[in-house]
Amino acid sequence: MPVITFANTKGGAGKTTAVLLLATELERMGHRVTILDADPQYWINRWFEHTGQRTTIKVIPYVTMASIERQIQECRATSDYILIDLPGSRSPLLAKAIGYSNHVLIPIQGCAMDAQGGAHVIELLQYLDAKAGIRIPHSVVLTRVNSMVTTRALHIVKTLLSERGVHVLNTPIIERSAFRDIFDCGGTLYTMDPTRVSNLLKSRENAQAFAAEILRRVSQRFGAVAPEVETVRTAA
Ligand SMILES: Nc1ncnc2c1ncn2[C@@H]1O[C@H](COP(=O)(O)OP(=O)(O)OP(=O)(O)O)[C@@H](O)[C@H]1O
Ligand SMILES: [Mg+2]
Repeated sequence: MPVITFANTKGGAGKTTAVLLLATELERMGHRVTILDADPQYWINRWFEHTGQRTTIKVIPYVTMASIERQIQECRATSDYILIDLPGSRSPLLAKAIGYSNHVLIPIQGCAMDAQGGAHVIELLQYLDAKAGIRIPHSVVLTRVNSMVTTRALHIVKTLLSERGVHVLNTPIIERSAFRDIFDCGGTLYTMDPTRVSNLLKSRENAQAFAAEILRRVSQRFGAVAPEVETVRTAA
């Protein structure tokens, strides 16, 4: 039962959006998903209240230093995946959540290498490894990437980060209005109307490829079989 934490101490990097995309894809594949919502803006909890009976995803709000361990223990038996959405600021919760995680995902916005908050998380992970021998698998996912950005430009960013020993997912999360609308409408990308939401089919493909890639990485350790999903092309 993997715990996946989404962390970047810089606000607005796309953590909450990435959590919801992964959670709804996992649910679609038939997995039981619990989200620990530690983002003080509670966007996931608001989405949950909006969505009501339409989802099987469980959302636990008000996650604190004092409560996180108990909350993880309480949902372990009833969840196939636990996702943790952290605040976009330096918080003591970061180190604690990382300690319970099987994988840490670091969303970094776009190709501008606006990576300071991400670098802070990576430094903490490298420190834990060097000083305490605690090695937590982690990856960067590039978020809010313009659909016109070329594969070559993404490759350059990926190479720069891998030179620093950081793994970057092949699938970036593209800037799509559907990924914003999902919070307003509730439900999922599959309950939205393709005639009303622009590029909805491409948004679904992007979310599928993102989830499939994470599952492949996480399942390397857990031995589960990740579903084969057609890889989405980087540029739309
Ligand atoms: N791929 C995307 N396409 C379109 N809009 C996006 C995308 N990712 C994020 N956004 C928008 O960018 C804003 C910030 O995203 P989000 O809330 O996911 O970031 P965050 O890292 O969780 O922020 P915080 O640190 O404040 O919790 C939101 O308005 C969200 O709708
Ligand atoms: Mg957030």
